[in-house]
Amino acid sequence: MNLTAEALFNVNGIVAIVTGGGTGIGLMIAKALAANGARRVYIVGRRKEVLEAAANATFPESIVPLPGDVTSLESLCEMAERVKTEVGYVNLLVANAGVMGPRPLKASPGQSPPTLSEFCAHALATPMDVFTDTYSVNTTAVYYSALAFLELLDAGNTVGNMGADWKSQVIATSSIGGFSRLKGASFAYNSSKAATTHLMKMMATSLVPYKIRCNVLAPGIFPTDLTGSFMNNIGPSHTGTFDPSLIPAERAGSEPDIAGATLFLASKAGAYCNGSVIVVDGGRLGTLTSTY
Ligand SMILES: NC(=O)c1ccc[n+]([C@@H]2O[C@H](COP(=O)([O-])OP(=O)(O)OC[C@H]3O[C@@H](n4cnc5c(N)ncnc54)[C@H](OP(=O)(O)O)[C@@H]3O)[C@@H](O)[C@H]2O)c1
Repeated sequence: MNLTAEALFNVNGIVAIVTGGGTGIGLMIAKALAANGARRVYIVGRRKEVLEAAANATFPESIVPLPGDVTSLESLCEMAERVKTEVGYVNLLVANAGVMGPRPLKASPGQSPPTLSEFCAHALATPMDVFTDTYSVNTTAVYYSALAFLELLDAGNTVGNMGADWKSQVIATSSIGGFSRLKGASFAYNSSKAATTHLMKMMATSLVPYKIRCNVLAPGIFPTDLTGSFMNNIGPSHTGTFDPSLIPAERAGSEPDIAGATLFLASKAGAYCNGSVIVVDGGRLGTLTSTY
């Protein structure tokens, strides 16, 4: 048995789809797959020019823009049809696209909490649709993205290009927010991520007869478009040092942190994972009021 990292952690020849793959964590995932042998990594997003720039700047020979909107079933089916025509199978779907959603009013450091009237007025100024939109991308679209690609994932098992012990897989990028009860965090975001994590566990069980696995990545804080302004509220800067009371690792997450966790799940090394949740957060969850 070859137990070298090279043999265990490569993703040689796989075909992957990464939604939200043009930026941030999705692009980190796409690059990790492309750098370690993936045959093709389709990156999905609504902004074609962002996808093209990302592919051109990284691995243009294997990262392929696949413009589309994950909240539209029609768009998802069109994307699946294109992949079916071009390759005919998929080994890995990473349902990663996500949005932050509205935030409640919270006290500034050292100040009293807002009055109940202030809290309610701020929250009620957000239309219900805006709250629900967070779920559309973060939760509903994860389910429908999986549905749209299930037959191609099944075809990936038939091709068997990863060996008999490796089965096709859906990975959702959820968040430690799904376990956190942090005051001031987005009710819409955190609850949508809790729902996504549970959705994936349910799907892992339901898809057993079809030999398609489902696992979850739950990142902590990574500097991306999504966390931009929020990071500046809790730390000195995207790349600065964080107090260990906020992040025990004393830094934000970085590309190698996501790449390592992705390669573990996506390669032969993670072939025995199904219904698993990998927390990659520098220990942050332990500093929060949380449930895991
Ligand atoms: N950054 C963190 O600290 C952190 C922590 C935990 C979890 N996460 C999760 O990681 C995932 C990626 O977020 P990120 O931090 O990397 O932020 P990001 O750079 O803003 O990435 C979000 C991506 O999702 C895509 N997207 C949004 N709505 C879409 C739609 N309707 N259809 C298709 N694509 C859509 C965006 O592309 P377009 O706008 O071009 O469509 C964008 O590429 C999210 O699920 C997020 O919740 C992030």
